[in-house]
Amino acid sequence: MVIFAVCLVASACQPSLPERDIATHGFPQAGRDAIARYGCGACHTIGGVPGAHGTVGPSLKGLGDRAYLAGHIPNTPDGLIAWIQHPQALDPRSAMPDLGVNETDARNIAAYLLNAPR
Ligand code: HEC
Repeated sequence: MVIFAVCLVASACQPSLPERDIATHGFPQAGRDAIARYGCGACHTIGGVPGAHGTVGPSLKGLGDRAYLAGHIPNTPDGLIAWIQHPQALDPRSAMPDLGVNETDARNIAAYLLNAPR
């Protein structure tokens, strides 16, 4: 019961998140905070991020299993980090706006998305 209460207060019961992600060299926990800060959840459904139930863009659950981002960008760690920072440069016709995400945040966000609960 105590553990349950702590989960509710901290909303941080994600035991499967690694401290550091090997593929992106990012920190998943910090990535989850950055996702909330940039408001990605307004457009995307993202597992483990409270309030991230958007349907404007595709769900980002299980993102690591996808071969392509936005239908044509190979879903490598570097490709994902680049997309999060510069979607308009990679695909000017995409509806995803540039949100001014810096590289550290993009790396951490990618680390979270590749390890997020489904
Ligand atoms: C205004 C709405 C909007 C916001 C805010 C937004 N996105 Fe997107 N995002 C989209 C749309 C629409 C697409 C689909 C792009 C396409 O296919 O051209 C997309 C695509 C993506 C993809 C590729 C997914 C796939 O399977 O193709 C990722 C990853 C992504 N967004 C991450 C993020 C992250 C991280 C943030 C916050 C920093 C964010 N998005 C903020 C609208 C948004």
